[in-house]
Amino acid sequence: MSNFGAMQNEIYMAGTQGILPDYPVDFATLESRAHEALGPMMTNYVAGGCGDENTQDTNASAFHHWGMVPRMMVDCTERDLSIDLFGLKLPSPIFMAPIGVNGEATQDRHGDMAAAKASATTGVPFCASTLSNDPLEDVHDACGETPAFFQLYTPRNRELAESLIKRAEKVGYKAIVVTLDTWLTGWRPRDLNASNFPQLRGKVMQNYFSDPVFRSLLDKPPEEDPKAAILLFAAIFGQVLTWDDMEWFKSVTDLPIVLKGICHPDDARRAVDCGADAVYCSNHGGRQANGGIATIDLLEDVVKASGAVPVLFDSGVRSGTDVVKALAMGARAVGIGRPYTYGLAIGGAEGAAWVLRSILAEADLLMAVNGYPTLERVREAGVQRIV
Ligand code: FNR
Repeated sequence: MSNFGAMQNEIYMAGTQGILPDYPVDFATLESRAHEALGPMMTNYVAGGCGDENTQDTNASAFHHWGMVPRMMVDCTERDLSIDLFGLKLPSPIFMAPIGVNGEATQDRHGDMAAAKASATTGVPFCASTLSNDPLEDVHDACGETPAFFQLYTPRNRELAESLIKRAEKVGYKAIVVTLDTWLTGWRPRDLNASNFPQLRGKVMQNYFSDPVFRSLLDKPPEEDPKAAILLFAAIFGQVLTWDDMEWFKSVTDLPIVLKGICHPDDARRAVDCGADAVYCSNHGGRQANGGIATIDLLEDVVKASGAVPVLFDSGVRSGTDVVKALAMGARAVGIGRPYTYGLAIGGAEGAAWVLRSILAEADLLMAVNGYPTLERVREAGVQRIV
């Protein structure tokens, strides 16, 4: 059993030798240091969201209107935060959500590799995005023994979609996460005002540029004519998916299919009926549509509608406390998004690992204090709406 909370003792003990932590443990300080490191263009892209960003902000603030009641006289000297997912035994209930500009978040522009290394050292699975500065094969290698998932932006070209899935399967990814809410880009004022869309500048294209089907569609290889390759990417990026497409996904791979972007209980039921192996409740961190409802406020209904099918969750998770609340509402696993990308920005693999470890330490210590030694107890305890 992992003792994630022990990180606290390491920090305090180091303090007695005059050593302060290199990275912060709270989100506000992490965010401001990361924005400094990223610079204005990348900060706009990573921190920005859709419209006036109300949905994005509410995702995070809505956690505050849910509270937990502690239980006393329970032996919590040992806590078990492990979960079963797709037949895998994972040491903790969190994973790294797919973030398409991880590659650009580190100084060396290999942020996807750094995220994978953070996964290898922490045991927290990495869901690698289609949009990457390194090919999915290299990223998977860097994850070491930790299982990884591959997120698919389904291209309009079926052969290319199949090629990406097969490559992920071949190299050992454990699930395909199909993102449903991004066949086009939502209205993002910060990026629009700066007229900046990284993909159109040739960033994070390596899964396309290294793909044999993608390359076969070009007259010249991307290394010789990057502009044509980028235009091809733009032309074939987003397939509009409908429920009928599930049959095709199930026919091309034996890997579990996870549907990302489910917020309505009817969609969760439909996903289960169509054979989804997991439902991923997320609103893309408020980047795709404004005018929505915080995902945490929708989670319980999605969990109910999904029955025995596991529910993954993200959007607005900023701390270990948020993680425990989402677990209490029935999420099987909780996705960390912007916080670990900020970790990459300030300290590469080490920074991202620090962020993940801090989140797990806070979750573990909260469970200890609240008298919840297991995730089963967390679920039994549940959360209460405060306002
Ligand atoms: C994302 N997200 C995302 N999702 C996805 O399926 N594929 C992707 O490539 C990306 N890219 C991406 C880039 C950036 C900069 C951000 C911030 C987010 C969405 C991501 O997986 C997750 O749903 C959100 O990050 C959750 O919101 P918070 O917790 O980060 O606010």
